[in-house]
Amino acid sequence: MNLTPKEIVEYLDKYVISQNDAKKTIALALRTRYRRMQLSQELQDEIMPKNILMIGSTGVGKTEISRRLAKMMKVPFIKVEASKYTEVGFVGRDVESMIRDLVVNSISIVKAEQEEANKNKIQNYILNKIVEKLLPPLSQGASESKKDDYQRLLNSMEEKVANGEMDDKIIELSFDKVHIEFNDTNLPPEMAKVQESFSKIFTAINKEDNKKEVTIKDAKELLKLEASSKLLDTMSINNEALKRAENGGIIFLDEIDKITVSAKSQSRNDPSKEGVQRDLLPIVEGSSVTTKYGVINTDHILFIAAGAFHLTKPSDLIPELQGRFPLRVELESLTEDTLYKILTQTQNSLLKQYEALLGVEGMKLTFEDEAIKTIAKLAHRANEITEDIGARRLHTVLEKVLEEVSFNAHEHSGSEFIVTSELVHKQLDEIVEDDDLSRYIL
Ligand SMILES: Nc1ncnc2c1ncn2[C@@H]1O[C@H](COP(=O)(O)OP(=O)(O)OP(=O)(O)O)[C@@H](O)[C@H]1O
Ligand SMILES: [Mg+2]
Repeated sequence: MNLTPKEIVEYLDKYVISQNDAKKTIALALRTRYRRMQLSQELQDEIMPKNILMIGSTGVGKTEISRRLAKMMKVPFIKVEASKYTEVGFVGRDVESMIRDLVVNSISIVKAEQEEANKNKIQNYILNKIVEKLLPPLSQGASESKKDDYQRLLNSMEEKVANGEMDDKIIELSFDKVHIEFNDTNLPPEMAKVQESFSKIFTAINKEDNKKEVTIKDAKELLKLEASSKLLDTMSINNEALKRAENGGIIFLDEIDKITVSAKSQSRNDPSKEGVQRDLLPIVEGSSVTTKYGVINTDHILFIAAGAFHLTKPSDLIPELQGRFPLRVELESLTEDTLYKILTQTQNSLLKQYEALLGVEGMKLTFEDEAIKTIAKLAHRANEITEDIGARRLHTVLEKVLEEVSFNAHEHSGSEFIVTSELVHKQLDEIVEDDDLSRYIL
């Protein structure tokens, strides 16, 4: 994808309100990778990605930005919580597993593309297989006219299967290979080999018993797997996927502040956190990781780390790691106005979601503008009084406002419900102003 930084920001604007610095920085980082790919191999090797550290309190859009990006760019992308590597009883789930997950993600992207590109071939394969079951083969030495008839029958049958007319009919399918996919990518490659052997044994055991009665509808799905494994070139998919993960992959390291140890808390007694930071170093800096699909070099993978850094500061990260995240962006806390815009201007905003949900019950839900403003105001107020949980507050607040309506919606099918400012006040005022109450309810 070769969108300009401006186009990337424009796209993000549809989903994330304000946070312009973060959007710009990320857009630029992505464009830089595109630029890099246009250069000679020699220069390409020199240009390292500039990893990004996003700092901002909870619920201000850190994860949302990355999530949207990944969707738009169709690049290999995964999100991991840094804190999970410190979990007690954490065995075997090594930090490198994030790279393996990235490769798996990449493979699914490339595979989907290939399936799309070979849609017709795959479709034909499936139809052939099904029609084969429906029509007994023509006997040897049939006359020319018989052959013609047969062909005509075949064609009309194919059409019927294709357009779903025969979906309910049951046929017996035999599978060439039982598709038992062991896909625990978190296992190191040595273990993956063991997995493969197991998978082979299972296949062998299942050999005799690989006939199954299914509806044509299900057969279409089942045969899709077989078709793509037969028609698509797995090797080249894997290679392409590795290459893309290597050059275009993004790893979003969420909750990075959870693996920092505050310099103030003298006890520095959290070896596991620092340990994870040290484990991360080589990966972020660039090293080779062996995966089931081949070796991948992590030099050019872009890392975007994010954290609230309430109790710790970025400078509490071990120095080597700090240096690997040269770009810092701060996300702003959400103002009343931003909250209002989040409700009204984002694609699939919460309001639209509620409207659609109650629409299912045949109820027309509308929000007066004044009511939305009040919701934003009270959400902001609740954030001030208790903890600032950013836009997440809107969820709890709206839930409270619509509690009654939502519960009884099915009884009011066909009617319209207008959310007014009075209703919002009635539902929320008491709670917001009562510290204890809002702590529990909002
Ligand atoms: N600036 C924003 N514009 C639009 N929606 C937002 C914005 N900030 C947050 N949201 C919404 O709030 C919710 C939480 O946001 P998000 O997951 O990005 O938080 P975060 O910054 O990653 O917080 P945390 O530090 O807790 O992980 C999401 O549903 C998101 O859509
Ligand atoms: Mg987050």
